[in-house]
Amino acid sequence: MQTIGVIGAGTMGNGIAHVCARAGFDVILCEVSQPALERGLAAIAGNLGREVAKSKLTSQEAADAQARILPASSLEALAPCEFVIEAATEKFDVKAQIFRTLDSFLAPGAVLASNTSSISITKLAAATRRPMQVIGMHFFNPVPVMKLVEIIRGLQTSQATFDAVKALSEQLGKIPVEVNDAAGFVSNRVLMPLINEACYAVMEGVATPEAIDTIFREGMAHPMGPLTLADFIGLDVCVDIMRVLAEGLGGAKYNPCPLLVRMVDAGWLGRKSGRGFYTY
Ligand code: CAA
Repeated sequence: MQTIGVIGAGTMGNGIAHVCARAGFDVILCEVSQPALERGLAAIAGNLGREVAKSKLTSQEAADAQARILPASSLEALAPCEFVIEAATEKFDVKAQIFRTLDSFLAPGAVLASNTSSISITKLAAATRRPMQVIGMHFFNPVPVMKLVEIIRGLQTSQATFDAVKALSEQLGKIPVEVNDAAGFVSNRVLMPLINEACYAVMEGVATPEAIDTIFREGMAHPMGPLTLADFIGLDVCVDIMRVLAEGLGGAKYNPCPLLVRMVDAGWLGRKSGRGFYTY
């Protein structure tokens, strides 16, 4: 396999394209919005530049990696890809439509991986005529730095598909961990209730965001406290994932904290909007 398709040039998509190109693969980076595509390519250049500054790459290796990324604005451009990683908007209908379209023209052996953080792989696989070749490949932000790839097997995913994705993750320098398809997989099933509970502690006046984050940084050696992390992930994403957990697993403990919902309603989405638990 030489060419990997990546769909979406946002934070996750551009990070995934970065690590694939850095590992020597040709990448076709597909993004429908031209400004978003340009922002994604600029982010990759900036992040490769950081790695050059830290002597993790030579400037020639960074230039070669950037040159291996071919930008594209339509899904049809992904026709030569034997492997596609989708990192589009976190909405089932959007992802299912992308998978159906790719399924109609990609080579029969091509694998479709989704970087979804919570949508059912089993349901996405069922939208295609190649359910055995559909799998979850969940990367973590910032993708060039975080080692984990959570590999999610749908009910229909074949062993050959799983083995190929595990091998690819290792080629990308990542640490793959296998999980089965269930709401929130493992990462968000455990992380999001922690963040949600921290929001309740703020709402109930138990402690300030700064105090809560300091407790986790200095007491539990987390690199960021849960509320800084929530701002980093995006408060809207946190609410969406809590709703997926509530729907998929049931029980009041998964309801998003009312304060978190109000902040999203106010447009306070965290770092990306300039305001969340902190101002940026
Ligand atoms: N590309 C390349 N390199 C990058 C980078 C990027 N986008 N961002 C940071 N780096 C590098 C820096 O150059 C630096 O390199 P050195 O170690 O060689 O100096 C290193 O990463 C650390 O960066 P900084 O010194 O700027 O800052 P930091 O020490 O605060 O680290 C961080 C930044 C890695 C983000 C760290 O704060 C951290 O680990 N935070 C927690 C991240 C986390 O939990 N991510 C998961 C979010 S959940 C998710 O993604 C999935 C979901 O489903 C919601």
